[in-house]
Amino acid sequence: MDSKHFISRNSNSPIAFNTKWEAPSNIALIKYWGKTEPQIPKNPSLSFTLSSSVTTTAVTFTPNPGATFSFEFAFEGVLKPDFHPKLNVFFNRIKPYIPWIDSYSLKIESRNSFPHSSGIASSASAMAALSLCLLDMEKTLFPELDPTYFNQKASFLARLGSGSAARSIEGPLCFWGKNSCRKDSSDLYSTPFGPSLNPIFSTYQDSILLVDKGSKQVSSTQGHQLMHNHPFAEKRFIQANQNLSKLVPLMEAGDLEGFIEIVESEALSLHAMMMTSLPYFILMQPQTLSIIQKVWDFRKTTQTPLCFTLDAGANVHLLYPKHTREKVAAFIEAELADFCQNRQYLIDAVGSGAKKV
Ligand code: PMV
Repeated sequence: MDSKHFISRNSNSPIAFNTKWEAPSNIALIKYWGKTEPQIPKNPSLSFTLSSSVTTTAVTFTPNPGATFSFEFAFEGVLKPDFHPKLNVFFNRIKPYIPWIDSYSLKIESRNSFPHSSGIASSASAMAALSLCLLDMEKTLFPELDPTYFNQKASFLARLGSGSAARSIEGPLCFWGKNSCRKDSSDLYSTPFGPSLNPIFSTYQDSILLVDKGSKQVSSTQGHQLMHNHPFAEKRFIQANQNLSKLVPLMEAGDLEGFIEIVESEALSLHAMMMTSLPYFILMQPQTLSIIQKVWDFRKTTQTPLCFTLDAGANVHLLYPKHTREKVAAFIEAELADFCQNRQYLIDAVGSGAKKV
């Protein structure tokens, strides 16, 4: 299948419509780092879909026959013209796939469940929620769209806004990028893990320790860019493929020891790529390393299957099975909260994907 599959027909009878979707954030276990145009990943990735960390987006479509497409964007009730350049890039990329949009003016209103400037990337949930609103409009114009196509195209559009957003449509775990574990996998959109997932992972917990809430000194766009001409890039892409092939059967078997080893190695490999880029950079903070050390000590002394992963930032995601919740909560309060800015952390869990609200 190629991207032509996602080109919609045009419609010559525009209708007024409004819709609202909630889409979750996600945390990658196998990391995507490195891409080619247009948002094609250099290696496959796999992520947990989250549950409470969500963006809710409402879109009002007003017919605007003959005029050119226009939009206004408000975030948490405030008009944000400074978001327009990013949204313009997104709309220009997706317009060939949704030609009907030229007949409309859009009012887009978005809010996040997680605190503003928490250092949690909101582009995945935001791009996914907006793409779902667009697909909902497309389905209203063309009611024959089937649910699989709906999700795949929502993921396809979201990917063109932010790569990892492709994985924020369905749950509890999503692949993105062609890989040898799944025949139906694609570089163009995400696909769910499917029923072979061991149930322990469908209720897995993710506590996000907010170490640094400021904006990153190097954006992920720049970071992906630095994987071109990176001395270890080709080896890293091979490693990600191998880690994925090892992780999938471990997650089917419910092997927590094997899971922990691959997940932590992926997080550190991602940051190793950053440290060995030119220019080199470090997104971890001293507190990030202190937390990692504490997690390793706690795991060793209590035999609790708690592990960490990292996104492109200093915050630490703690991953653990639901039945260890109380023990881990006490550990976070007693030993880790002091490493967080204002002792702040979020308690989240694996979720089932986006929904219409
Ligand atoms: O979606 P982007 O372009 O912000 O890249 C995200 C990359 C990581 O978050 C570091 C890893 C991933 O797979 O989500």
